[in-house]
This record gives sequence, structure tokens and C-alpha cells, in this order.
Amino acid sequence: MTTVLVLNGPNLGRLGSREPDVYGSGSLDDLRVLLESDAPDDVTVDLRQTNDEAELISWLYEAVDSGWPVILNPAAFTHYSYALRDAAALVSKAGLPLVEVHISNPHARETFRHTSVISGVATGVIAGFGFDSYRLALTAVTRLS
Ligand code: DQA
Repeated sequence: MTTVLVLNGPNLGRLGSREPDVYGSGSLDDLRVLLESDAPDDVTVDLRQTNDEAELISWLYEAVDSGWPVILNPAAFTHYSYALRDAAALVSKAGLPLVEVHISNPHARETFRHTSVISGVATGVIAGFGFDSYRLALTAVTRLS
């Protein structure tokens, strides 16, 4: 039995009403239901969201200490949080998969979104496929675990 942590950064708690033209009309609860139905029987999906950088970092420590793979949508922290990058590196350097995901394709958007400070320490990156970015990441993580 493995737990996969699915961590979501700032403003993703507003999915469903936040810029539906960019992020779609599904809520975080809809995403949870999708991932739980996709997950193999021996995989528990633990989906969380916070607007707080410190809390996100503490969850990455929890992943390291528990030996859990991580699917991470760092949201706006993607573009500037070196603290989050360093915590993400603890996960991948521990040999645990860490997949960076984005609902939109940041490279097709504003210039400031073209930089990810997380990607360099991620096992892989999946972006631009809506909620399917998470579903593809779950497939990747379960194959690697
Ligand atoms: C996002 C892309 C980020 O640029 C943005 O700040 C988000 C969501 C995405 O999932 O497409 O909040 O990570």
C-alpha cells in the first residue's frame, strides 16, 4: 500500500470558479474523485491544497519522512520560490518520484510563467492537459514506485 501526495499551491482551492477559461470548470473535489477512481487498489491518493508556502514545504518533508511519491502543482510558487525548490529537491534526492504538474501550459502564457524554479529538481514535468496532467502524473508515479 502506497500513498501518493498530490499537493496544490496558492489559489488552486478556487478551481472551478477561478479563470475557468484557463483552468476549466472542475473543482479540487472533482479532481480528488477523478484521481481516487484512477488509482490502483493499493494506492491511496492524499490530495491537499494550501496558500501557505511553509505548509507546502512541511508536506514535502512529510513525503520524505514517510517515503511517499509526490505530484506537485506549485501554482505561482513555481516561478519564484527557491525555498519550495530546495524542499522539492529533498524528495527527488531521496529517490522518491516528484512530478511537477500544471493544468495550463505556462509556456504558452505570460513571460513570467515561462520560468520554473522547480523543474530542475523534479523527476518530470507534465503541463497543459487540464486535470489529465494529474492523471498522467499518477500513472507515471505508480509505474516508478
Ligand atoms: C498553474 C500555472 C501557474 O502559472 C499559475 O500561477 C497557477 C496554476 C497551472 O496549473 O496551470 O496558479 O500552476
